[in-house]
Amino acid sequence: MYTRIARLNTLAEFRDYVNAPGVRIPVSPEVVPAPSGPLAQPYKLKDGRAIGNRFCVQPMEGWDGTVDGRPTDLVYRRWRKFGLSGAKLIWGGEAAAVRPDGRANPNQLMMLDYTMRDMEELRQALVKVHKEHYGQVDDLLVGLQLTHSGRFSRPNEKTKLEPKILYHHPLLDGLFGVPEDYLVMTDNEIDDLIGDYIRAAKRALVIGFDFVDIKHCHGYLGHEFLSAVSRPGGYGGSLGNRTRFLREVVAGIKSECPGLRIGVRFSCFDMPPFRPDENNVGRLLDYRDAHGRYPYAFGGDPDQPGDVKTDEPLALMKMMGEMGVELVNFSAGSPYYNPHIIRPAWFPPSDGYLPPEDPLAGVARHIRVASELKAAAPDMLCVGSGYSYLQEWIPNVAQAVVEAGMIDFVGLGRSTLSYPELPADTLAGRPLDRSRICRTFSDCTTAPRLGLVSGCYPLDEYYRSSPVAKELKRLKKPVK
Ligand SMILES: Cc1cc2nc3c(=O)[nH]c(=O)nc-3n(C[C@H](O)[C@H](O)[C@H](O)COP(=O)(O)O)c2cc1C
Repeated sequence: MYTRIARLNTLAEFRDYVNAPGVRIPVSPEVVPAPSGPLAQPYKLKDGRAIGNRFCVQPMEGWDGTVDGRPTDLVYRRWRKFGLSGAKLIWGGEAAAVRPDGRANPNQLMMLDYTMRDMEELRQALVKVHKEHYGQVDDLLVGLQLTHSGRFSRPNEKTKLEPKILYHHPLLDGLFGVPEDYLVMTDNEIDDLIGDYIRAAKRALVIGFDFVDIKHCHGYLGHEFLSAVSRPGGYGGSLGNRTRFLREVVAGIKSECPGLRIGVRFSCFDMPPFRPDENNVGRLLDYRDAHGRYPYAFGGDPDQPGDVKTDEPLALMKMMGEMGVELVNFSAGSPYYNPHIIRPAWFPPSDGYLPPEDPLAGVARHIRVASELKAAAPDMLCVGSGYSYLQEWIPNVAQAVVEAGMIDFVGLGRSTLSYPELPADTLAGRPLDRSRICRTFSDCTTAPRLGLVSGCYPLDEYYRSSPVAKELKRLKKPVK
């Protein structure tokens, strides 16, 4: 079996382990703090605006907004922690739906006219905490992630999918109960949705966000466009058509929101769904179409399902550069059908499966694919994902990948929930607080799967001592 990170006691042990065939993760022998360390170097955008260091807080939603899409105290608490992290790039805060039917859960934030004031205050709260702790905020870039959840929309009830699909998927339809005769979104409906994105972007600009992310990852609607090979009409088939939605949203934002930067977080590789086998280990569902291929995984090899093929992601990078997308964030797969790809973890979430590969191989895949795409887009700001599983070795790997130019920013997701100040401690040269390092227990995902709010139940005292923790314990069935 694989070795747990916590068992790799020294940097030398960790380095030997990750230099094994099939893993290969670069590691810096010594992390150099600010001001001279690679992670402390500012990144300059094309117009000269500097972002103060190379840490990025990834979007992390909490399933904890109000039912009308506004932030609650829990959301404020999370965004303040993002500000406290010391990271100078805040990628989106969390997913905010551009309209009610596109919410992933009834408690997802929304970027609508009536929520503008609340969203503005939320952003300000983050910036205020950052200013209090780090003084400077003109080198802090804060974006908002705009989303429609597509196939995974649950706008009214936590447990009830109300999908908006772009095509009938040979596996996902069956796995998530989409009937054969379910209507797909029409081209006209898509045209309307483009308007919703542009209006949401305008609102984000008015309330002071530096950029919006046109989310194209994790199986949600933007991501589904990228694999809509079987969809007829203007939004499916060729890559040109599958990226039409993105092009039209970007063109609309460019013409109606001058000054607003545009980012795209996309799943730069994907695989078929995985399901637990008789031992609860994840196994790929090997479906082939009439041509013996699986063409539904964007960035996947249709002839070798489960392998990565970067021709289309590379083409997308080129297109995005031409469209004027300035920031890119590489994620992968989907938490609903292949969670080990997006978030390598030792302990699976309740709707997951035991890891089918060493989670470090998953981290290595993120790093390798992201660096290949970064190399093709030297002028675009690029953020990598999936680093939390590295635990105490995050700083050594972060420095190595940034120093080598493999990525511009190291994005942190789960580790931000348990230990938001990890970037600040790293930059200051302080030893990490080992008691707060995310060990990928996956309760942040299991809780919402069971209808509860997300949070770090094992390590964040606030959640650990909350009544919800008791409820989680009661409901949770371990995946063994
Ligand atoms: C509880 C939770 C909430 C998340 N919310 C979002 C989100 O709103 N938008 C998004 O793009 N990704 C979201 N993600 C994915 C993370 O941003 C990140 O890509 C993932 O956790 C892997 O990075 P990590 O290894 O640093 O955790 C979420 C992940 C978790 C566990």
